[in-house]
Amino acid sequence: MRFPDSVLTVLADPRTEIKGDLVRIPFEIDRIVYEQVNVVLKEMGGRWDGRKAIRGHVFPHRIEEHFRQCLAAGEYPSRYEQGWFPTPHPLVVQICDLAGICAGMTVLEPSAGSGALTAEVARRGGVVDSVELDARRAGLLREQGDSRHVIAGDFLDLDPLDYAEGFDRIVMNPPFATGLDHIKHAIKFMKDDGILVSVMTAGLMWWSDRASVDFRKAVDEVGGEIEALPDDSFAVSGTNVRTCLVYVPGYAGGPLQTHGWLRRQPLQLGLFGSVA
Ligand SMILES: C[S@@+](CC[C@H](N)C(=O)[O-])C[C@H]1O[C@@H](n2cnc3c(N)ncnc32)[C@H](O)[C@@H]1O
Repeated sequence: MRFPDSVLTVLADPRTEIKGDLVRIPFEIDRIVYEQVNVVLKEMGGRWDGRKAIRGHVFPHRIEEHFRQCLAAGEYPSRYEQGWFPTPHPLVVQICDLAGICAGMTVLEPSAGSGALTAEVARRGGVVDSVELDARRAGLLREQGDSRHVIAGDFLDLDPLDYAEGFDRIVMNPPFATGLDHIKHAIKFMKDDGILVSVMTAGLMWWSDRASVDFRKAVDEVGGEIEALPDDSFAVSGTNVRTCLVYVPGYAGGPLQTHGWLRRQPLQLGLFGSVA
């Protein structure tokens, strides 16, 4: 949800205090603007505490880093709209650690949002390419300058074979409704010895549809893991959606199609053709 301009101006004002679990506005603002700010802070999960020593909106968690992301993006994930959720910073660090991101590695972020993951990858010296469906967020990613390339478009429409080489690492927190499609498509951009780490809705751990069952089996076969994240991992974003972390290590010729596997196909077909 976009911040109304008047609310963004107040929240980004250097006099506004955003510290720990508290947001305080210690200066006079217009009554109508105050009411707009109050609505937004409540939608973000805050609760007004009018006690003299506090007089601010109290959140159930530390919110500084989350607010920094939201103010930079000009939008916030409201409790009533489950779309864009910036990955909370501790989870960003966990994902990049698990992926073993090192200087010089090529990294793909296929649903990059407002750059929570790309910022950390770039900080570690990774060379990151980003894709983002929302044109405004893609513009923001370009302004941030952390990505080598930013593609504004639908990741599922990209052809992995347009890339001469796969990526060393893939880190992602895709839209949950189509998350499995995103993860399987992303593996097609991964080198045979690459690593993919993705956040996903916890349902992937028990869904009984064919695609989910096959995927879990394939991840197991290549030595990967799907592990539950703590229930409050996204609480800072005002949601208690249950999530898991998907880890897919490198392999060649396994049940999941990597970039290398795809590139080998024409050769195999050619060979087969010459025999026939
Ligand atoms: C849950 S947010 C995560 C953002 C970012 N990865 C992060 O970790 O903070 C998912 C993002 O995926 C984007 N998105 C949704 N569908 C997409 C698609 N088909 N291709 C690329 N990006 C998409 C949304 O616009 C949103 O910014």
